[in-house]
Amino acid sequence: MPLNDPVIAEQTPAADFTIAQKWKRYTEDEHDIWNTLYAQQIDVLKGRAVPEFYDGLAALDLNVGGIPDLAKLNPKLEALTGWEVVMVPHLVPDDVFFDHLANRRFPAGRFIRGRDQMDYLEEPDVFHDIFGHVPLLAQPVFADYMQAYGQGGLRALRHDCLKNLARLYWYTVEFGLMKTKDGMKIYGAGIVSSRIESVFAVDDPSPNRLHFNLERVMHTDYRIDDFQQVYFAIESFEELFDATQQDFGPLYEKMSQDKHIHPIVDILPSDKIYTRGSQAYANNGGRLQSHKR
Ligand code: PHE
Ligand code: FE
Repeated sequence: MPLNDPVIAEQTPAADFTIAQKWKRYTEDEHDIWNTLYAQQIDVLKGRAVPEFYDGLAALDLNVGGIPDLAKLNPKLEALTGWEVVMVPHLVPDDVFFDHLANRRFPAGRFIRGRDQMDYLEEPDVFHDIFGHVPLLAQPVFADYMQAYGQGGLRALRHDCLKNLARLYWYTVEFGLMKTKDGMKIYGAGIVSSRIESVFAVDDPSPNRLHFNLERVMHTDYRIDDFQQVYFAIESFEELFDATQQDFGPLYEKMSQDKHIHPIVDILPSDKIYTRGSQAYANNGGRLQSHKR
């Protein structure tokens, strides 16, 4: 928990866990960290992200410099897709998170990482949450998907299948790739906001890259502390939205009986393979080290 942010520490969160951004209270140094991260990501991404990501940055004027002021960002986002960004002090409980999404509110952390955590941090900060997640919320189909995910999350909680649904979020919203006519591109926020994983996810020979399949994804575990060993690629946001429109009730029934989890690295006979990975990175011990420059 980012206890070193005094603007968070002085506030009592509302019942829905939101706090005020108090944008004027960000220091020059904090804006400077944002600008450094921003310039670095634009440079390292160099066309590696989906066009919708760049469209979102431009439409929301996220390229104007400094940590975005929600008072300026939200009217633009609302006009485009009816979404708004709200600030939270730290990760919020699952039901609270889903309820925000179901109501087209994206909860973002207020604090920004320190200079000692430029490449890797465990808890999402304002850079990951706004630079990573918000551009695609300006894209109507993806915006609808995120709302549907929130509604589905509340339902998964009742079915005790949160683990399965969380994998869907992980392999799409956070670490999703898209196979486009110009090659494999990134749309996942966890990749787009990471200097080292933006290159690894699309260019490294190590990970498997498979075509997205809903049930497959909901049965595949993931790693939270290192690069992914498998990425799933969609061909369009419509494909993702359509695949998740079905009633998950019968899937949840099946899953609660069938506890089988696919090993992360296995390729199944039913998989459509884009890249068969060498797994060299993971087999050499992983932990991001060899990729730090
Ligand atoms: N269709 C899902 C259900 O019936 C809801 C959902 C939509 C979940 C989109 C995730 C993403 O529960
Ligand atoms: Fe995230």
